[in-house]
Amino acid sequence: MSDEPRFLRPDVIIEPLVDRFYAWLHTVSPVQAAMNLAFVQLPLLESYLQSPQVHINASRNPALRGGLFVNIEESRSEEVRELVAAIKRDRAEMLNFATAIAEAEDLVRQSATGFDLTPLYPKLPSVLSGLVEIAYDTSNQPAMRYIEPLTYESSIYTEDRQSVQLSLETGIERPFILSTPRLNSPKVLELGIPFRHPGLEELFKSRVHGAPLSRLRQMLELDDDEAAALSRLMAPEPDLAADRHIDNGGRVRYFGHACLVMQTPEAAIITDPWVSSQASATDRFTYRDLPDYIDLALITHGHQDHIVLETLLSLRGRVGAIVVPRSSRGNLVDPSLALYLSHLGLPAIEVDDFSAVEFPGGKVTATPFLGEHADLDVRAKSTYCVQFADRNVFVGADSSGIDPGLYTYIRNRVGQVDMAFLGMECAGAPLTWLYGALLTQPITKKMSDSRTLSGSNAKQAAAIMTELGASEAYVYAMGEETWLVGHVMATSYNDDSYQLKQVDEFMTWCADHGIKSDHLFGQHEWRW
Ligand SMILES: [Fe+2]
Ligand SMILES: [Fe+2]
Repeated sequence: MSDEPRFLRPDVIIEPLVDRFYAWLHTVSPVQAAMNLAFVQLPLLESYLQSPQVHINASRNPALRGGLFVNIEESRSEEVRELVAAIKRDRAEMLNFATAIAEAEDLVRQSATGFDLTPLYPKLPSVLSGLVEIAYDTSNQPAMRYIEPLTYESSIYTEDRQSVQLSLETGIERPFILSTPRLNSPKVLELGIPFRHPGLEELFKSRVHGAPLSRLRQMLELDDDEAAALSRLMAPEPDLAADRHIDNGGRVRYFGHACLVMQTPEAAIITDPWVSSQASATDRFTYRDLPDYIDLALITHGHQDHIVLETLLSLRGRVGAIVVPRSSRGNLVDPSLALYLSHLGLPAIEVDDFSAVEFPGGKVTATPFLGEHADLDVRAKSTYCVQFADRNVFVGADSSGIDPGLYTYIRNRVGQVDMAFLGMECAGAPLTWLYGALLTQPITKKMSDSRTLSGSNAKQAAAIMTELGASEAYVYAMGEETWLVGHVMATSYNDDSYQLKQVDEFMTWCADHGIKSDHLFGQHEWRW
């Protein structure tokens, strides 16, 4: 095998999998993963096996887009049956742990009535021993708190669940990640290695720096067939855009959804990294356009469209640190982003509201994020102000303008904002869509529908602009770039969509108030 350097092609995709389901925060973090496996994924696969055709038809029905239906052809249902058997056999401890949580929460609801909690501990299921504390809030409402670092050391966290599939971008939308496990296919190179495997870092670094195939083969422990498959993902020359760096001033590029790349000649910052692999497309930025080295990646929150593991794994070895908001430490709905990333071999820096992180020639300040989490007590969420090249850029992500007063304080702390990026997915999914697996007490549909994952509407976005005193507004993070986000968000918009009408109303408000604005789609560049 050649010792000449080879370069990973820009159109290579990596899908990180756990028990064949797409890996994201809630399918990897131990407690949440156990509950998702037991209460959503396994029942979903069993439902499919009852009537595969119902699932297949529903998967193809546009009106049911984003629903939990397994999109696997019936001729492969035997493989799904084997997956179910393997999960029941190999993940018995996770399934048992999830049941124990449900039992313990029931016990706490019944027995923690404002009196001493000490007698409850011996009654907890034994698998929770050493991993939970029970506490009241000041209204005597009890809750269990998980000692989360230890859950990664317990038997419910196993890297045996992890594998990756490498393939070439086809341009065809992939199956929805929350519903459809990935079976093996001759079109993918499947490797049963953990996400933190050093060979993966070497592979992705080769996009810029190259690596001999023999070295990659050795590091990834490939057999002959796998090595041949890998060689098809590599090219003899790097495929990188000539203008991926700048030599003066500043630049911001919109890569789609919530992903922005901010650059000076000496530094680069990326927000909610999510980069297209469609290297031949001319209407979007792709891996070809990324700077070789990125000082900081800023993560705004833990939703699957903002902490995108497939892009983060693709950046391993070329990003200095990943900045993440601190969680509440142990709340069931609020897994730690820092623990998650560090167990996957990704370097994380945890920030609190108004913590600052400096980078060459600039500074990032973490600022509060309001709402958009179905009124659950999730703290692992942050907006950011990035000061660089004489500009102050507010990265608002999905934070809502539920209380505009916050933004007055933010302005007082970080100064006048020049450019504000605001998410306006203002008719978001209901509570149970993303958090259903974590609710051990039934919730009515009416209650779930009233609590959504919604960003700002027109009025709230206008209030944010007024309070920030920002001079430019850019609406982003709407999930409109279906080529990038379809398989992760399953959004669908048409001209009558409430969200798009709200964006138009906000654009009109901006024009009336002398604020420069745009509704971003696909790609955009600001240069000064
Ligand atoms: Fe979100
Ligand atoms: Fe989002």
